[in-house]
Amino acid sequence: MPVTRHAFTKVASNSHWQFFATLSRASRGLALTWFTLIVVRGLLPIGLVLAIGEVVAAVGTGTSLVGGLSVIVIVFTLSQILASVHAQIGVNLGDRMSTYLQDQLLNATLSPNGLRHMESPDLADSLSAAQDFDLGRSGPPMDISIGIIAGGLVEFVIGLGQVGVLAAYRWWVALVVGAVWMSTHWLLRDSMTASRLDEQIQFAQRRAEYTYRLAVDPPAAKEIRLFGLSGWTVDQFVENSRQLIDLRWKAMRLRQKSMVWSILLLVGMNMGLFGLLARDAANGALDLGQITVFAQAAVGAAALAFGGLNWALPPAAESVALITNLRQSMESEGQLLDGDISAHSLPKRAITFQELTFSYPGGSAPVLDGLNLAIEAGKSIAIVGVNGAGKTTLIKLLCRLYDPDHGAIEADGTDLRDLDIASWRSRLSVIFQDFVHYDLSVRDNVAPHGAPDQLIWETLADAGMSSITSLDTILAKGYDGGTDLSGGQWQRIAIARALCEIRQGAGVVILDEPTAQLDVRGELEIFDRILEATKGKTTILVSHRFSTVRRVDKIVVLEGGRVIEQGSHDALMATQGRYREMFDLQASRFTVGEG
Ligand SMILES: Nc1ncnc2c1ncn2[C@@H]1O[C@H](COP(=O)(O)OP(=O)(O)O)[C@@H](O)[C@H]1O
Ligand SMILES: [Mg+2]
Repeated sequence: MPVTRHAFTKVASNSHWQFFATLSRASRGLALTWFTLIVVRGLLPIGLVLAIGEVVAAVGTGTSLVGGLSVIVIVFTLSQILASVHAQIGVNLGDRMSTYLQDQLLNATLSPNGLRHMESPDLADSLSAAQDFDLGRSGPPMDISIGIIAGGLVEFVIGLGQVGVLAAYRWWVALVVGAVWMSTHWLLRDSMTASRLDEQIQFAQRRAEYTYRLAVDPPAAKEIRLFGLSGWTVDQFVENSRQLIDLRWKAMRLRQKSMVWSILLLVGMNMGLFGLLARDAANGALDLGQITVFAQAAVGAAALAFGGLNWALPPAAESVALITNLRQSMESEGQLLDGDISAHSLPKRAITFQELTFSYPGGSAPVLDGLNLAIEAGKSIAIVGVNGAGKTTLIKLLCRLYDPDHGAIEADGTDLRDLDIASWRSRLSVIFQDFVHYDLSVRDNVAPHGAPDQLIWETLADAGMSSITSLDTILAKGYDGGTDLSGGQWQRIAIARALCEIRQGAGVVILDEPTAQLDVRGELEIFDRILEATKGKTTILVSHRFSTVRRVDKIVVLEGGRVIEQGSHDALMATQGRYREMFDLQASRFTVGEG
């Protein structure tokens, strides 16, 4: 289900409650202390106002000032101490909240067992907006927000307390004063349109983030310099960041009109209130102490409005709503229905693809279109086809990273959808074209799940990776003793990884163009080594080259989303079809060009 604006708006409406609930989920103890301090700090000023009234009255009547002054000193000192304790707790709580939200985000992206949620443009926008609670581009970051929100809430409680004091004067005066100050929140509510949920803002933010990463991460450093892209990168970042600021500025300007109304209302109310107090003071209905108390309360009630709450709470609450929502949308987009049949020791007979049809979301034509294929267990097979023929897509479906639109893939007659996903994937040893270069030791790159060193050395040798001197070397620059490898060397490391998994019991080896960065001779050599090391195992080699796979048991030519030819090298050469044509073409280039 695509994420709709509507869904977000609905969530946003109760997001404030969700935010506070999440605070206590992040840390119950800290949140409770934080809330308690809000109430205590909010109510202390009542004591101050009453004590000042007491002192003024005492001056008037000439009685002792000691009691009143002591209360003032105690309350004042206590507020100072509590404020600083509260700030510390707020920072701590903010950090807990950040960690908790980060954790939720990681869960959102990692927990679905499929891939679709990672490829949806809507979700990508939301994801980058959701990360902003820590980056603080469209609003203050969480630990700062918590402090501002605390301040806002304390003000709010102070305001309520002062309105309570006014109730001792006239209950209806308290009601009117409270209502007018509170109405400012209502009057200004719609003008907050610069929202983290806004699509335009999300997009600008994602682009700003992207260009920022381009500039600071090493991978793009070469091209940015060579293509002279530094200026463009900075411009893009500035432009998108400026767009964010503009949108927020526009939102602020929108508030101006409501602001005029608010001011008129407040001025009217306060003139009435102070006029009433002045009249009662003049006709003696209130003594000096009472006047002092009520006048202070009338001023203090202003704390009900314009707190930091208005601008700090919405972005913080939206982040929480966004992340919660993202978890749900990513789950429904990326989660595949798990089967419960164990894939233990599959496939014994064959893997079969039947009338397999698949298209990517938003793609017009199906990538695979009624594909039929049988892969005999224990045999080697090569899937060849030009770039974009759908080879990788076929492998991804075989790993059950997606489900087909029509048709099925079966292992020994059992539909992959009926198998336990984790147990099926553990049967496969796959090296993708874009396999990951982990910033880890040689040992962990070859055997992420662990393996005896002896085995790792053997598989490195089988993969033709002889230049390694220590398994502890980190394969990335920027670490002590770390080193980076060339593209071809990385591919040999990846092949060692696959061989290692095979030796440890994986049932099917799949190599998706693992040698694309090697020349034809290198690919030929590697494929021969792999076939040697995987004899008797189900082995699937993928290549866009037609001339390097001739030693496999069966070659399959993929074109137009189907298998158009299959058979042994000799048989295919004899048929004079597509394979023959491509083989001759590439082999001639091999002898003339690359050879
Ligand atoms: N994640 C994706 N989303 C949308 N389209 C994709 C995705 N991956 C691949 N494609 C498209 O599917 C087609 C087949 O891609 P692929 O299976 O990677 O081809 P091959 O591995 O044979 O080169 C291509 O046209 C490619 O643009
Ligand atoms: Mg591919």
